[in-house]
Amino acid sequence: AALIDVVKNMPKAELHIHIEGSLEPELIFALAQRNGVALSYTSIEALRAAYAFTDLQSFLDIYYAGASVLLTEQDFYDMTWAYLERAHADNVLHTELFFDPQTHTARGVEFGVFVSGIQRALKDAYTKWSMTGGLIMCFLRHLSEEEAFLTLEQALPYREHIIGIGLDSSERGHPPEKFVRVFARCKELGFHLVAHAGEEGPPAYIETALDLLRVERIDHGVRCIEDPILMRRLAHETMPLTVCPLSNIKLCVFEKMSQHNLLTLLDAGLVITVNSDDPAYFGGYMNDNFVAIVEALPVQRHHAQQLARNSFTAAFIDTDLKQKYL
Ligand code: HPA
Ligand code: ZN
Repeated sequence: AALIDVVKNMPKAELHIHIEGSLEPELIFALAQRNGVALSYTSIEALRAAYAFTDLQSFLDIYYAGASVLLTEQDFYDMTWAYLERAHADNVLHTELFFDPQTHTARGVEFGVFVSGIQRALKDAYTKWSMTGGLIMCFLRHLSEEEAFLTLEQALPYREHIIGIGLDSSERGHPPEKFVRVFARCKELGFHLVAHAGEEGPPAYIETALDLLRVERIDHGVRCIEDPILMRRLAHETMPLTVCPLSNIKLCVFEKMSQHNLLTLLDAGLVITVNSDDPAYFGGYMNDNFVAIVEALPVQRHHAQQLARNSFTAAFIDTDLKQKYL
């Protein structure tokens, strides 16, 4: 089979998807209407036309505005179900979803509302397709550590539904060290730990995420290429990087896909995975990301197979399930 069909058909896991970033413009408008929420865009086309980002912050502003239409348990279910159907179509067998509680609690939406809606969709995907998944709760790093602690407190009644803790939003000026105490507490509580680092921020943020937050995966991490010693460390420690190719182009981390470094990192022995990040905003879901790298980079069959294997080895699943998927 042609490589493009091989990558589309391979079983894979997705480890870096913000569920609020799967909200398509059509659903944003439908939910705005259903909930009587006013939008500052007059049409789906006008909203989509605003998806011309220059950096991470220009995206985040629109992404948080889009999430403002989410109010009810059914809204969160509908958003999550739409994503899971797309993931299933791309042969995703396992998916770990980031969610941003503070984006919702700040608008008066209760914790139980979004956890329940997202969780119910995951349960249906398991029933229907045996697709497995989990939730990773992210703290917004532009907010304070105190607010993160408050969010952790609110999450505790739902902790059986949460497999891990992450750190997202504006990276520059908000280094991992800002969240040392709350991550230490999350580790004590037995959560898996991850953090966005080295997307826009410097390689030093990857090091502090490892040394101070004690994370088990780095989200993005592509700027490790600027520090050869760090690159060797990531390879030696088999520390997974959840790389998001289309995201990196849309947010101008690389000018074009042919300049993306993921194949260089993979060839250097790093545990690279491919993911969609915010598929509704960045131009595509899992297979769109795989197709984009196959078309722009000298990806060989063994690379593609390694990327798929890495997605399962890096997943937060027990060894039995891992064996089954590998
Ligand atoms: N980076 C940081 N925060 C985010 C992202 C991202 O790519 N997507 C959603 N929140
Ligand atoms: Zn992300």
